[in-house]
Amino acid sequence: MKSGMKLLAAAALCGAALGAQAQVSQVKVWAAACANCHGTNGKAQPGMISLAGRDKAELVQKMQAYKKGELPATIMHQISKGYTDEQIELIAAHFAGLPK
Ligand code: HEC
Repeated sequence: MKSGMKLLAAAALCGAALGAQAQVSQVKVWAAACANCHGTNGKAQPGMISLAGRDKAELVQKMQAYKKGELPATIMHQISKGYTDEQIELIAAHFAGLPK
């Protein structure tokens, strides 16, 4: 949490000079949109699917399948369509890197 705050502050202070770090905080904003259902930092409440520490390739594959309507879903069809392929890659890498 603390280091996340520092990153945000650094990105705000240095702007474009820290493009990579700005991207990291952008990914956290996208990932925060998943927290309502998949839990804080991808750790879901019992009964819901966790994303933290999952295989990145599997997360990407599922998101892409939802986006194309190949996997049945109640809500993920709409949600997955809100992200570009690049954003899906970055979000999946973010959740894969979080502790289970
Ligand atoms: C409104 C609640 C909600 C939000 C917000 C949400 N999800 Fe989901 N997610 C679900 C549900 C429910 C499922 C089960 C499939 C379905 O019914 O749509 C699911 C399934 C998934 C799966 C498949 C998991 C598995 O193991 O089968 C992935 C991956 C996923 N979501 C990623 C995300 C990501 C990434 C975000 C944020 C960008 C997100 N979800 C936001 C409700 C949500």
